[in-house]
Amino acid sequence: MDFRLQNSASICRRMKLLCSLWFLLLLGVGSLLLLLDHLPDLQQNSGVPVLVAPRWPVEEAQRSDDVGTGPFLVSPPALLLQPPSVSPFSDPLLGNKQPVTKRHRKLLLKTAAPGGEEASQDPRLRLLKRVCSRYRPVVGKRQVTRQQVSRVYVEDRFRLLYCEVPKAGCSNWKRVLMVLGGRARSMQDIPHDVAHYANHLRRLDGYKFSGIVERLRSYTKVLFVREPFERLVLAFRDKFESPNLYYHPVFGRAIISRYRANATRSALRTGAGVTFREFVQYLLDVRRPVGMDIHWEPVSQLCSPCLLRYHFIGKFESLEEDANLLLRGIGAPANLTFPNFKDRNPQAERTSSRITQKYFSQLNTTERQKVFDFYYMDYLMFNYPKPFSDLH
Ligand SMILES: *[C@@H]1O[C@H](CO)[C@@H](O)[C@H](O)[C@H]1NC(C)=O
Ligand SMILES: *[C@@H]1O[C@H](CO)[C@@H](O)[C@H](O)[C@H]1NC(C)=O
Ligand SMILES: *[C@@H]1O[C@H](CO)[C@@H](O)[C@H](O)[C@H]1NC(C)=O
Repeated sequence: MDFRLQNSASICRRMKLLCSLWFLLLLGVGSLLLLLDHLPDLQQNSGVPVLVAPRWPVEEAQRSDDVGTGPFLVSPPALLLQPPSVSPFSDPLLGNKQPVTKRHRKLLLKTAAPGGEEASQDPRLRLLKRVCSRYRPVVGKRQVTRQQVSRVYVEDRFRLLYCEVPKAGCSNWKRVLMVLGGRARSMQDIPHDVAHYANHLRRLDGYKFSGIVERLRSYTKVLFVREPFERLVLAFRDKFESPNLYYHPVFGRAIISRYRANATRSALRTGAGVTFREFVQYLLDVRRPVGMDIHWEPVSQLCSPCLLRYHFIGKFESLEEDANLLLRGIGAPANLTFPNFKDRNPQAERTSSRITQKYFSQLNTTERQKVFDFYYMDYLMFNYPKPFSDLH
């Protein structure tokens, strides 16, 4: 009896101790989280040392001897002088559904280089690093996932990783990858569908984890982007304005039945005739009736640029020039140049900013602003100017 009482008293004491320990632990974790949350600010404001390696130090981008950006044109091996590429942190921009806040906009003003278009790699890569380092909330240690590299194509001979962005020259890039890898003799031999479906190319998510990590560490990583609104309009025209056996039944039907009042029976059945406005309503809906699609998914999510740390960012607006610069940089055969033939619908009117404006004029100011917010990270990371002056 005595013994038991004594025992339970001591258990009680121990419990109290345990509870206090728990409390302290929770307190500690809480303040650590708080600290980590504000880490980027702390680093900038008071020079607190980087607690969490390896992430890009905030100041790194300002240094002129910035590894990896400068020596690109010297020789291909110089590309490999990068610090370890696989960040243990997940991409904050992947699946980030938070609205753009005032703070974000203030950061845009600070980060975006004045003067709009930058032609060379250095400023592009520096801007991307700066944006990533400022936006990256520390959410915990996580390795890169297969999903995050599922759009990345592998070319082992020239040690190239290419992240596919639809409507930014990707069919021709797949042709180039096939020729580089010896799977085709020349680009003219590859019909559009073969290039498009890329059956002969391997994607990074198809490798064992060690193979993924090794390639991410040592290969030249490449991304080609395009003005986001233009890419969106082009995707809409391509998938919804001409007959399509996948996008009409799968996306069209869901979009019409959700967003069109009094839809006709035939529209509900075929899914044909989605308007740009309905499409945008779908895009902005947090409870979309059908999922995302790579043709309109922001590049900041499609290619995880903050996580994968690309060495080369090409732009569709200077596609051939950028692509050939890259091909020479990786030591591709001198007679291999980026194809300049257009893929399909050669008669189709080229989607220009004029057409983009026309489509966006179907939206009201609020809707336009929301679409801009949706692609905001792409505008920010790749330094595209605001497409309309009334956006903020
Ligand atoms: C480049 O030249 C080599 C031999 O000089 C030839 O075998 C190859 O097919 C050519 N490639 C292209 C893309 O024309
Ligand atoms: C739908 O049709 C009904 C009956 O024809 C009509 O009363 C209603 O106003 C229509 N609604 C819309 C949103 O067009
Ligand atoms: C714009 O359209 C949306 C519907 O998509 C509507 O809710 C909103 O009130 C409109 N805004 C303005 C400023 O007209």
